[in-house]
Amino acid sequence: MKLIAPSILSADFSRLAEEVRAVEKAGADWIHVDVMDGHFVPNITLGPLVVEALRAVTSLPIDVHLMIENPDAYIPAFVQAGADLVSVQVEACVHLNRTLHRIREAGARPGVVLNPATGLETIEWVLDAVDFVLVMSVNPGFGGQHFIENSLEKIRRLHRRITDAGLNVQIEVDGGIKEENIAEVSRAGADIFVAGSAIFQCPDYGAAIAAMKKRLLER
Ligand code: DX5
Ligand code: ZN
Repeated sequence: MKLIAPSILSADFSRLAEEVRAVEKAGADWIHVDVMDGHFVPNITLGPLVVEALRAVTSLPIDVHLMIENPDAYIPAFVQAGADLVSVQVEACVHLNRTLHRIREAGARPGVVLNPATGLETIEWVLDAVDFVLVMSVNPGFGGQHFIENSLEKIRRLHRRITDAGLNVQIEVDGGIKEENIAEVSRAGADIFVAGSAIFQCPDYGAAIAAMKKRLLER
C-alpha cells in the first residue's frame, strides 16, 4: 500500500487546522510535520504544542520528522502531544539505537532519516529497530527544492537490503516529490511519499493528491 503524506511546511500557517482538514478530505494518508530547530537545519518551525493542536483536528497518523539536535530530549513531548510516527536524523544521533528504542517505548513508531550525502552503511545496524527509513531527496530545511536524482539509486539499494534481510521496514521519501516523478520513485522501492509544495501550492488539493495516486498505480 503506497501512502501520501502532505508536509504542512508548505501550508498556510495562519489557517493550519483548515489546511489539515482539507488535505485529510482530499485523500491524504498521513500528516507530515517538519520540526526544525535552527541548529541542525538553518530554519525554525514548530514544536509539540502545534502537534497537540493538530491532534485535535485530524484522525490521520501524525508523522513527526525531527530535524533537530539532541532529539532524545524532545521525543516524549512529541509522543504525548499525539505523534504516531517519529523519525530522527542519523546525523544528529550519537546513540542512535537507544534513541530509536526510546521512540518505541514512548509509544510511537520509530523511523530513521538519512540526509542526501549520508550513506546506507550508517543504518545497517539499526534496520531491525525501525518501522521505516526516511530517505531525504533534498537537503533538509526548506520546502520547494529540486529532487536530487541519485536518491533513486539510494532507494533501490535500500529496498534490496531490506528485502534481502527479510525485514518489514517501509521506505519514505521526502523532498521534491511531485506528480511527474512519483511513479519513478515508487518503482525504485519507496512506499510513503512526502509532498509539500506539490500539494499546498496547488489550488485543488484533492486533484493534486488524486493525480499522484493515479501515477502510483502506473507500473
Ligand atoms: C524539508 C522537509 C520536507 C519538505 C518537503 O526539510 O523535510 O518535508 O516540506 O517539501 P517539498 O515537497 O516542497 O520538497
Ligand atoms: Zn520532512
